[in-house]
Amino acid sequence: MLAAAGSAVGLGNIWRFPYLAAKDGGGLFLLVYLILAVTFGFTLLTTELAIGRKTRRSSLSAYRRLNPRFKNLGILALIIPMVILPYYSAVGGWVMKYTVAYLTGNGAETATDGYFNSFISSETEPLIYTILFMAATAYVVYRGVNKGIESSSKILMPILLLMIVGIAIFSMTFEYTSDDGVTRSGLDGLKVFVIPDFTDLTLDKLSITIMDAIGQLFFSLSVATGIMITYGSYVKSEDNLIKSINKIEIFDTLVAFLAGMMIIPVVFVFMGQEGMNHSGPGLMFICLPKIFASMGTVGTVLGAVFFTMVLFAALTSAISMMEGIVASFIDKFGYSRRKSTAIEFVICAVVGVLVCFGYNILYFELPLPNGVTAQILDLLDYISNNMLMPLLALLTCVLVGWITKPKKIIDEITLNGEPFTRKGLFIVMVKYIAPLLLILLLFKSVGVF
Ligand code: PFF
Repeated sequence: MLAAAGSAVGLGNIWRFPYLAAKDGGGLFLLVYLILAVTFGFTLLTTELAIGRKTRRSSLSAYRRLNPRFKNLGILALIIPMVILPYYSAVGGWVMKYTVAYLTGNGAETATDGYFNSFISSETEPLIYTILFMAATAYVVYRGVNKGIESSSKILMPILLLMIVGIAIFSMTFEYTSDDGVTRSGLDGLKVFVIPDFTDLTLDKLSITIMDAIGQLFFSLSVATGIMITYGSYVKSEDNLIKSINKIEIFDTLVAFLAGMMIIPVVFVFMGQEGMNHSGPGLMFICLPKIFASMGTVGTVLGAVFFTMVLFAALTSAISMMEGIVASFIDKFGYSRRKSTAIEFVICAVVGVLVCFGYNILYFELPLPNGVTAQILDLLDYISNNMLMPLLALLTCVLVGWITKPKKIIDEITLNGEPFTRKGLFIVMVKYIAPLLLILLLFKSVGVF
């Protein structure tokens, strides 16, 4: 369960959640996300952990066990982390760069305007950090030493959480008067983040928000990637799955919420609503240094500790992805761990290089249906989170809701007579609501409407 929590909490919570929440208007995104977390997130996490424990197989063969006609879901579940890992590592590389900058006393520089953009558009540096991040991940997977990493999460995760709380409170104290004479405070920013604004809400905006929130939810919980099935297969029969599911869900959502509280008020104070609407993957890297810079010398130390923690959280998630892929290679092709890790490392590095070049020699601007102007990173992110993950989630719901029937999952969840209070909700979700909404969203994300 520690491994599952380590996989769930990562860049998704700290880097991705805040920029999407800012882009989609703060409070509305938060509201939609929370509703989806207690319905969709809970349903999928329950389903995947239960499938894993029931079949005692990794995702590649678990689906086949449940129903041979659905065996290709295992392949889909292998492809998804293979698409995510290269760009996840690129962002991990950015975190590594900032960690090094703070540790070497150059943290203040990262707060200067244009620093982030000139870093990612340079040709060699981002590449080096991306490869370093991947190499660290591959090393842990190859040596099979993730156990050690997981147990350090017990200490490091609470420290990270405390730091996020501290910085979030500090963010509230910001105040800034823009050139046009408007004064905005951190508290105003907090209101924008937590209070939904329904004025000018159109069906299109709502559906984009739901689409972004659902992709984010899958990403953040590491569901619809097969990884939770694999972790479920390690859970003992006598363990209480419901308790673990609740813990992972609450912790993951809490970290995301607090990360939003830490970053969004700062964007709002300095860049206003306009800046929020245009937020993208660089948001965290632009906002956090500004916060640390305003703390003076203490900020340099805090920044160093903070980016180190984020780097650690990113590594545990990346390790879980690569571990899932490598386990499947071993399973499917009978390769050794060494060979499987080497192959995945090379594939990941090649795609990772393309992701880095997406900000310089391969730069393009591609408008996506969710209003984002994409480079290679955003495109891979969109393909995995808005298309492949909803597709896998949809097919999993069809399999569980209609073919094997929800009872199988419920029996597994309540194996030791645990009370399952959300049972009714679970059945309605897997059978009806989830498939329907996922079909609509898939149409939307491929641009049908
Ligand atoms: N859940 C991780 C995060 O929030 O950073 C990212 C992730 C890990 C996504 C593993 C997918 C996955 F299979």
